[in-house]
Amino acid sequence: MLKVIDDTHKSLRKKSIDVNIPLSLEDETLALNMLEYLRLSQDEEYSKAHHIREGVGLAAPQVGVNKKIIALFYPINEKEYMTRLLANPKIISNSVRKAYIEAGEGCLSVNKEHRGYVIRDFKIVVKAYDILEKKNVEITAKGFDAIVLQHEIDHLNGILFYDRINKADPFKKIDGAFVI
Ligand code: NI
Repeated sequence: MLKVIDDTHKSLRKKSIDVNIPLSLEDETLALNMLEYLRLSQDEEYSKAHHIREGVGLAAPQVGVNKKIIALFYPINEKEYMTRLLANPKIISNSVRKAYIEAGEGCLSVNKEHRGYVIRDFKIVVKAYDILEKKNVEITAKGFDAIVLQHEIDHLNGILFYDRINKADPFKKIDGAFVI
C-alpha cells in the first residue's frame, strides 16, 4: 500500500520529470498502485480500517515520486467509472470560460481546510500517454473531469489547489463560470 505524504513535504512543491515511454516496470507498477490506492480509498470498510481519506485523483509526487504520472478514479454514473492512468500529461489548449466547485476542492495531501473557490478552466485538451491503453491520447475534458485533471496536473508542477484561491476574496464570483 502506498503512503500519501502531506504538503509539508518538499516533493509536493517540486516539478516532476517526464517518464520514459514505454514505461519501465517500476513506473508501471507505481502507476497501477496509485490507481489501486484510489479504489481502496473509496471502499468504506478499507478506508476506515486504514485511516485513509477518499480520493478521486492522485499524482506521483503525492507518494514522494517526482515523475509525471497521474491516476483518476471516480464514478461517472451508476454503472461506469472514470478510470485513467496518464503519463506525461500536458494541457495543449483551454477555454476562456472558467469553472469551480462551490464546496471548494480537497486533496489527499492537504489535511487542513482551505476555504474558497479554486478557479480553473472549464474545458481543456490534454495530450498524454495512456498507461492502461498503452497509447498516446488526446483528451477533451469539461466541467468536473477538467477540474480533476487540472488539479492532478498542477501536482506535477508543484502547485497545490489552495495556491489558486483568491487570498483577498476567496469566494469571489466569476462571470459566466460553470459552477459545480
Ligand atoms: Ni491533490
